[in-house]
Amino acid sequence: MDHIIELNHIAKQYPGLEKSLRGTKLEVKGPLLWARNLSRAARLTSNTASSVTALDDVSLTIDKGEIFGLLGLNGSGKTTLIKILAGLIRPNHGTGQVAGISLDYPKRIRQRVSYVSTLGWMGLEWPLTAQQNVEFFAILCGMSQRLAKERSEAALRDVALWDVKDKYSSQLSNGMRQRVILARALLFRTPIVLLDEPTVGLDPATAKDILDLIRGTLRKRGQTIVLTDHQTDQMAELADRVAVLHEGKVVIHGTPSDVVRRLEHLIVIEVQTEGMEQPTAAPPSCIQRLHKTEHPGPLRSRNWRIHALDGPGVLAVVLDWLTQPSGLVVFVAQSKPTLQDVLMFHASENPKGGALTSGTLIQNN
Ligand SMILES: Nc1ncnc2c1ncn2[C@@H]1O[C@H](COP(=O)(O)OP(=O)(O)O)[C@@H](O)[C@H]1O
Ligand SMILES: [Mg+2]
Repeated sequence: MDHIIELNHIAKQYPGLEKSLRGTKLEVKGPLLWARNLSRAARLTSNTASSVTALDDVSLTIDKGEIFGLLGLNGSGKTTLIKILAGLIRPNHGTGQVAGISLDYPKRIRQRVSYVSTLGWMGLEWPLTAQQNVEFFAILCGMSQRLAKERSEAALRDVALWDVKDKYSSQLSNGMRQRVILARALLFRTPIVLLDEPTVGLDPATAKDILDLIRGTLRKRGQTIVLTDHQTDQMAELADRVAVLHEGKVVIHGTPSDVVRRLEHLIVIEVQTEGMEQPTAAPPSCIQRLHKTEHPGPLRSRNWRIHALDGPGVLAVVLDWLTQPSGLVVFVAQSKPTLQDVLMFHASENPKGGALTSGTLIQNN
């Protein structure tokens, strides 16, 4: 297979404040330095974090023309990985190539990728119209005026915004603003398109429109797409392959159906309770993962999503453990694992038999 992206043992650490500011001298001369000194002083006196490992020994290959999805909880390293692929930051360790260019030449990589950052629409120019925003961006990127005009019209038509091209960014809905950002990514025929959370903050119907657009337009052009999202159901439909990141490591990768199949020995039990105490006994051994969400309010409502080893009577065992002398079970459902469960199963801390605090994921085997 033709790998358009290859990463070998990539690691990225961000320096903590302590380290990045070590040796910083406060400059005291001149009124212009006042603001700079103030912010440095604020950082020096604030919490001094130690360095953060955002990526830890990541090796991946992505094929030409693939739609590749990066999944992971907040802080798992998705954006860091995308930024390395975009040539915006460099790894501390490891090697790799993006569209035939070594990671040692980020400037050249930047000419071969289109990149849409998380909440990129916040960077739109508010006093410009949708069309002006796209055209202005094209010219900033070095396109001739004529080509910029031509390409931005085509891009705005592709994202179905041509009818509102003369509206100002401030007059557009968030979904439309996100489409303006996508139109900017469509201007160039780069071999790779990187999309960091293209549907974040959008309602499900608008998110679906955006994903259909990605599939329809970009895939047709044969561009390779790497995207991050936490909407696992949409990713399952869209991505050819996915990788789950947890604490900077790739914990599982493969086609969505492959990674789901690897949990086929489990069933998912969802339970909603009201007014019930915490179970005091240790969870039964069939429970492999357990995720609990507490809802504030007088009903003391709680949702459980439980991964249990499939077998006869498992639902009864789990419910026996969960239910208390008082309170109500208001909902029970049993289903097969989905891509969301892959994320839940792998992106978990697994403190064995740990306290069942809200949102805890525990392993018990
Ligand atoms: N510029 C930065 N400086 C310090 N730490 C950072 C920086 N960017 C990200 N991090 C940290 O690196 C980890 C991974 O972050 P990120 O790649 O943004 O994850 P994700 O996109 O999956 O939420 C997190 O712990 C985050 O706090
Ligand atoms: Mg991110």
